[in-house]
Amino acid sequence: MRKKIIAGNWKMNKTPSEAVALINELKPLVASEEVDVVFCTPFISLIPAIEAAAGSNIEIGAQNMYYEENGAYTGEISPSMLTEIGVKYVVLGHSERREYFAETNETVNKKVLKAIEHNLIPIVCCGETLAQREQGITIDLVRLQTKIAFKGVSAEDAKKCVIAYEPIWAIGTGKTATSDEAEEVCAAIRKNMEEVYSKEVAEAIRVQYGGSVSGANASELFAKPNIDGGLVGGASLKAEFGKIVNYK
Ligand code: PGA
Repeated sequence: MRKKIIAGNWKMNKTPSEAVALINELKPLVASEEVDVVFCTPFISLIPAIEAAAGSNIEIGAQNMYYEENGAYTGEISPSMLTEIGVKYVVLGHSERREYFAETNETVNKKVLKAIEHNLIPIVCCGETLAQREQGITIDLVRLQTKIAFKGVSAEDAKKCVIAYEPIWAIGTGKTATSDEAEEVCAAIRKNMEEVYSKEVAEAIRVQYGGSVSGANASELFAKPNIDGGLVGGASLKAEFGKIVNYK
């Protein structure tokens, strides 16, 4: 039985002091033993967030990292900078990074490999645009994205990873994929993992849905057999996130 994982992707929101205030507000609302709860904050808020979340069930994640250990990469953050302060998860290949910051399947793969080497759990994002959905290539596309992202990852390591299926047309738009649409793609991602690795890996890996997840739709989405939780943007910055975590 896979444990659900519900992660807030704060994106470029909240200053460090606002981050601490939000964590203190949400802490009692997201206290749950039944799901893994992760807050992915901006880099500058990671340390205060970790301090504010200490002693709670909240784990802290980053929203990106670079794939080199150190060196002349102005503006970048390395995996050991994250692990030293206690970061456990890292979102990789979010569609906004692909669109605005030239992230590709290949750089996502390099980052996934590096994150794993440092015992960070990657939340690997994939998903199609509206035009790609209308062309009927959603499943082919997410298969390709995840296949490349996991190139060179061992079966043992793959089991610990998280994949987030996020249709781009559903992100921040209030337009959620129906639970059946989300389930279809999450099931296809799992099937792909079975083909690449084995049934055992496919059964272990957690596949989230993301894109306008809310307090109103979380329970229907998370009831689907292949949806193991969510990657939540807008609604993770509000008390509503407590409702999402306690979706049952
Ligand atoms: P949203 O964002 O919940 O605001 O749609 C999800 C995401 O981009 O991770």
